[in-house]
Amino acid sequence: MILAQPEMAATVTQYCTEHSTDVSPEMKEVWDWTCGEFEDADKMSSPLQGTTMKFLASWAGAKRAWYEATKQTQAEIITLELDPKMIAATRTTIAKYNLGDRVTVIEGPAQQSVEKLTGMFDIIFVDANKDGYLGYVKVVLDQKLLSPKGLIMCDNVFARGMTISTESNPQLPDKVRSYWTECGKALQKFNTYVKNDPRVDVVLLPVYDGVTLIKWKQ
Ligand SMILES: C[S@@+](CC[C@H](N)C(=O)[O-])C[C@H]1O[C@@H](n2cnc3c(N)ncnc32)[C@H](O)[C@@H]1O
Repeated sequence: MILAQPEMAATVTQYCTEHSTDVSPEMKEVWDWTCGEFEDADKMSSPLQGTTMKFLASWAGAKRAWYEATKQTQAEIITLELDPKMIAATRTTIAKYNLGDRVTVIEGPAQQSVEKLTGMFDIIFVDANKDGYLGYVKVVLDQKLLSPKGLIMCDNVFARGMTISTESNPQLPDKVRSYWTECGKALQKFNTYVKNDPRVDVVLLPVYDGVTLIKWKQ
């Protein structure tokens, strides 16, 4: 697996961060606050990932995004969340940065929420429960929730390497190994499903923990 050694991953991430457009002070502030509030803050997208999403949303001129977008485009953002603690943190952040006029939190299991969404989205970021990815993306495509030039980004499709092989990451700590092994099984089905869906073009990038990009076939 690429950058399986945590020290090397940290060094490379730091180098990439230093050579990318600066993270906004607000994003840095949210990052620091979340790290202090949540034991599992490592699930959060890093500042470099946040910068990547801002970059893409800005480039695409996104007007409507599921989960992430940018100040520059003033996009409407819909975010889906199940966990009450995360919902409370999200609402606190929305209020703190006066984003209530364009960010909507939909509470509850994402599958039910996605099925009720209407309209189209320019950017969709899929990063919730890994055994839900297939269902989420299938609904997005079936219900045409992705705009004609839109982009779906799916994070963690390597499942720390377990999707590729359960032998691929000897450094994965034992306490999370069975969790990521189960995720890997689900994501293997997901990766195969999207690759074989004739409606879309797919590229699986060997960055971070594996990121799949999906767009409509032109
Ligand atoms: C990896 S974290 C998301 C990190 C976030 N996307 C970011 O970029 O910082 C996964 C989130 O999905 C939420 N989640 C897990 N299962 C879910 C479900 N079935 N429906 C909605 N949200 C879910 C978790 O509570 C958690 O907040």
